[in-house]
Amino acid sequence: MCGIIGYVGPRNAETVVIDGLRRMEYRGYDSAGIAVLSDGVLSARKKAGKLINLETELEVEPLPSAQLAIGHTRWATHGAPNDVNAHPHLSSNGRIALVHNGIIENFAELRAEAESRGAVFRSETDTEVAAQLLGLEVADGTELGDAMRAICRRLEGAFTLVAIDAAEPDRIVAARRNSPLVVGVGEGEMFVASDVAAFIEFTREAVEMGQDEVVEVTRDGFRVTDFAGHEVQGKPYHVDWDLSAAEKGGYDWFMRKEIYEQPKAVQDTLLGRYNAKRELTLDEIRIADSDLKRVDKIIVVACGTAFYAGLVAKYAIEHWCRIPCEVEIASEFRYRDPIVTPNTLLVTISQSGETADTLMAVRHAREQGAKVVAICNTNGATIPRESDAVIYTHAGPEIGVASTKGFTTQIAAAYLLGLYLAQVRGTKFGDEVAAVMAELESMPAKIQQVLDNTGQIHALAQRLRDTKSVLFLGRHVGYPVALEGALKLKEIAYLHAEGFPAGELKHGPIALVEQDMPIFVVVPPRGRDQLHDKVISNIQEVRARGAHTIVLVEEGDTTVEPYADEIVYLPKASTLLQPLLATVPLQIFACQVATLLGHDVDQPRNLAKSVTVE
Ligand code: F6R
Repeated sequence: MCGIIGYVGPRNAETVVIDGLRRMEYRGYDSAGIAVLSDGVLSARKKAGKLINLETELEVEPLPSAQLAIGHTRWATHGAPNDVNAHPHLSSNGRIALVHNGIIENFAELRAEAESRGAVFRSETDTEVAAQLLGLEVADGTELGDAMRAICRRLEGAFTLVAIDAAEPDRIVAARRNSPLVVGVGEGEMFVASDVAAFIEFTREAVEMGQDEVVEVTRDGFRVTDFAGHEVQGKPYHVDWDLSAAEKGGYDWFMRKEIYEQPKAVQDTLLGRYNAKRELTLDEIRIADSDLKRVDKIIVVACGTAFYAGLVAKYAIEHWCRIPCEVEIASEFRYRDPIVTPNTLLVTISQSGETADTLMAVRHAREQGAKVVAICNTNGATIPRESDAVIYTHAGPEIGVASTKGFTTQIAAAYLLGLYLAQVRGTKFGDEVAAVMAELESMPAKIQQVLDNTGQIHALAQRLRDTKSVLFLGRHVGYPVALEGALKLKEIAYLHAEGFPAGELKHGPIALVEQDMPIFVVVPPRGRDQLHDKVISNIQEVRARGAHTIVLVEEGDTTVEPYADEIVYLPKASTLLQPLLATVPLQIFACQVATLLGHDVDQPRNLAKSVTVE
């Protein structure tokens, strides 16, 4: 939810930290702050609003030059997003500066205790209690690492903490529980951050931190322990993308860049999964075939866009595997006493791998004895680490807050899983799997075709930019595409937008239709079933009531012409694969409308990229 960073090394620590915060600003942008340690004195600057406000403040009131610094970019939970509540928080004795991502649930009782020991609080945040308690511990003579472990044992909730002590000029101590933390290992310099993007400019060697662990970092190395002080081994890995992936590369927005990266991203999701013997090999699926054969129910759990990818996947999984498949919003799943048994396969979908609600669903399912497969884009994130198996989407970093390549690659990965289950359970013959794989492998080129023809969507965005309300309709896999189209428009263009199953419209929502209301309709390919014709009837129903219909349909399908005000032609694809194409014009439409309205597309109001609090 927030982005945090710490640096120790020979460079100008302020510059490293501010650049790192810039690359993590997608995680939260309610306020930003930095603290440096120079000549035994901690100095901090913090400012409400985006990072640029902090940068302006630093020009007015420069910090002393330093080689040790911590920084924070905030998505507010406790306390308004103002200067005082911005991080870092300093202990009132001046010893400690600390940044935090997460929520400390028992902060009220700890605050009372710290106050009784003489701490003077300045902010309304839960975070300050950690800074004050650390300050009291080190003032009592406890060294910083032990002090951190001692307070972590007492904190409840989710937290990543990064702290520095005025008395320790070369050391950063960080801890994590339920929130992300990664260590960056440079030559003669070290980093800790929420995300490797923060330090990718300087090193691609990283170390994954486990749950309930503390890392003590100096410029020459690091040491990891659990909260009890036992030494543990961090898991080193090499980051397989570089700085250019974390920059806009000539695009106006990360979101637009990520939309245009989809052909490559989907290709990378599929890469190396299908061998010369025409077998799907998902090496990361470390679940025995015997266990997969026993599965009698699949539950897909996810949030937001990832949930919509799950809705798409359900159609394919049930069709190919003949296993009942439920799809549920993670925040609802855990609190309704779901029926999960050792024969249930839980599939989580999460771009970040950090979403708290989805993580809690993983833990709940595993407690019931279910196996869990994670579909995730972020190497070493908490959700894949706590799952039995993972399919990484390999989409590269997604920085725009609105998920785009996340969605299409999640669908591709979920389809791989569906086909793999069908292969293991024998519900599809090898040549049937081969046929779907061949079509999947043709999708990157078709997505590219859609991207090569965006002029029509840009013109549409220009004409519809002042509209107040937009509907999206679809059936079957077109329904989650409609939901995704509406979500994109809501979150970045701030327009009222709703997605409906086209057949459900006449049971209520059709009352919303007014003269000239734009309604996007995803038309399934013409096939053996009646789905296509039913959607054509739905288009006629809304057109008869004055709607302005924008119809997404496969090329060559002229049946819609009499009922469509605008037609967006898509390359041919089978019904199950059409979402990979139909979503793209809707992403572009939202991005373009938001741009024309002058919104910050990459950092929409009230949102943050990964939701690490429940
Ligand atoms: C929408 C969006 C969110 C995320 C959701 C889940 O554009 O980005 O709805 O899809 O918060 O996030 P992950 O996939 O990281 O679990």
